Amino acid sequence: VTSALKSRLKSLAARLMRPGLADLHARLDDLERRIERLNRPAQKFEEELRFWRWIITTDEGREKIGGPFEEVFGRWQRERLLELGRRLGLSDEAALDRWCAGQSVVEIGAGPYPAVATAPAWRRAVAVDPLAKGYAREGLLPPACNRITYIDAAGEDVPLASGFADLVIIENALDHVTDPEAVLMEIRRLLRPEGLLWLLVDLSTYSDHMHPHPFSEARIRALLAGAGFETVHDRVSDHKSHPKAYGEYRALLRRPEGAAPAANVAQEDVVVRSSLRPSTRA
Ligand SMILES: C[S@@+](CC[C@H](N)C(=O)[O-])C[C@H]1O[C@@H](n2cnc3c(N)ncnc32)[C@H](O)[C@@H]1O
Repeated sequence: VTSALKSRLKSLAARLMRPGLADLHARLDDLERRIERLNRPAQKFEEELRFWRWIITTDEGREKIGGPFEEVFGRWQRERLLELGRRLGLSDEAALDRWCAGQSVVEIGAGPYPAVATAPAWRRAVAVDPLAKGYAREGLLPPACNRITYIDAAGEDVPLASGFADLVIIENALDHVTDPEAVLMEIRRLLRPEGLLWLLVDLSTYSDHMHPHPFSEARIRALLAGAGFETVHDRVSDHKSHPKAYGEYRALLRRPEGAAPAANVAQEDVVVRSSLRPSTRA
């Protein structure tokens, strides 16, 4: 599409070229760069989907993570949720599960096995990911995801009402998004006053098109403070998700009291209810 559009525009420019229109080529080059920037997320999402397909469906992928996807991710994600339980002062797993059953939760950048899929019940549970339809189409979502509703949307613009969530989870995703500041403002909008954010992000100096926003500890703290979050608890460790990262930042944050910003999104035809998913995977 890009090259067809470019050549049509260039032939138009050639026909129109007159003195005074000499900067047209420069403008077209600028347009071309913009179109490339718009196309890049598509490439990023293709690669992301390829990565998960590999992890979930190939022996090599299973070997890489140390076992079958459902088993390994089910355990990892449950551990992440258990840590939240400890931070909340909940006495044990049963207490955590009882607490979850009363919460409306949204997980952003959820991937095919989100942490929300490891609690037996929530009041409402929504997983947001721009690859939701891709994960569903390819049968990559495990049965544990049947309990949650996937929305095919970016974290920058989530089609849910303001104040919808008691809890938002974003793990290993803020360095992947297009605009981390916009995502944090959107999380703030989604949370009710005093609602909680459970965040995990790699600390890294490395970036590529899949991970356009490397975070240092100082940068992530500044971004969270700038979006108006209060830190309840945070920690840094040398554990990491990406091999080129040097550590991870984990935080429990609170959205302070105050009116939620007005809803800025319309309900669109983006919801992929788990009941509509093809069950292609055993
Ligand atoms: C490394 S995966 C992490 C998945 C999951 N949170 C986990 O920890 O296993 C990053 C996820 O972020 C999603 N993502 C990329 N850009 C996004 C955006 N703008 N908004 C929300 N999610 C995004 C990707 O589709 C992918 O599912």
